[in-house]
Amino acid sequence: MSSSSFNAEEHKKMLRSYFNGQGFQRWASIYGDDKLSSIRNTVRQGHAVMMDKAFDWLQQLGLPKGATVLDAGCGTGLFSIRLAKEGYKVTAVDIASQMVDKAKAEATKQGVQDNITFEVNTLESVRGTYDAVVCFDVLIHYPAEGFSQVFRNLASLTKGSVIFTYAPYNKLLALMHWVGGYFPKKERRTTIQMIRDEEMQTAMKKTGMQVKSREKISFGFYHTMLMNASHK
Ligand SMILES: C[S@@+](CC[C@H](N)C(=O)[O-])C[C@H]1O[C@@H](n2cnc3c(N)ncnc32)[C@H](O)[C@@H]1O
Repeated sequence: MSSSSFNAEEHKKMLRSYFNGQGFQRWASIYGDDKLSSIRNTVRQGHAVMMDKAFDWLQQLGLPKGATVLDAGCGTGLFSIRLAKEGYKVTAVDIASQMVDKAKAEATKQGVQDNITFEVNTLESVRGTYDAVVCFDVLIHYPAEGFSQVFRNLASLTKGSVIFTYAPYNKLLALMHWVGGYFPKKERRTTIQMIRDEEMQTAMKKTGMQVKSREKISFGFYHTMLMNASHK
């Protein structure tokens, strides 16, 4: 989808339907402990590496115990639960009710449900003020124009940091997408939308945020850029 044809409502509808259906099955098994193919296993491992790094960054912000964190696009709740165990007050939001139900059940199983408020809601519509916002492997589904709009809302929800991932533009990956699929057919996910450096700079400018840290995480078939953008 080119950015000029981006339709925010249609895009949300498509994501909601995917993550309540096939996407739920796919990602819940990657984020769970099912036996996986070797390709998906590298995605699980890469995601775990990214989460460890993001957790370190969040702790380095030096927020006090009980600080509020929004986990935007919380999926099955992996990061929310980890935060809740550390004593943060978490708001976990996802567009897909299937994901929220799964995250809630998991939080209850692990005894941290009282530290998490769950909400079926979108990155575009969520409101509030938080000490920090995290958003992992969600913005990878937004083309530049949509990314910029959604990121503006996330940036408005905190006076501190937004720690998030996105897919940086990469010529080779772009070619592979164009040729017709990076993954074998049965392994394909939703299309990954790559963001160019200049598009990221424009999005940052619109929010007045500055990039504090940026680290590329590559592990097998998992490739992402982790970023900490801050108002301070
Ligand atoms: C690949 S999963 C990542 C889940 C989680 N952040 C993690 O890293 O474990 C992407 C999640 O984003 C959610 N999502 C996609 N678009 C969204 C939107 N506009 N608002 C809220 N959640 C969204 C999906 O339902 C899905 O749970």
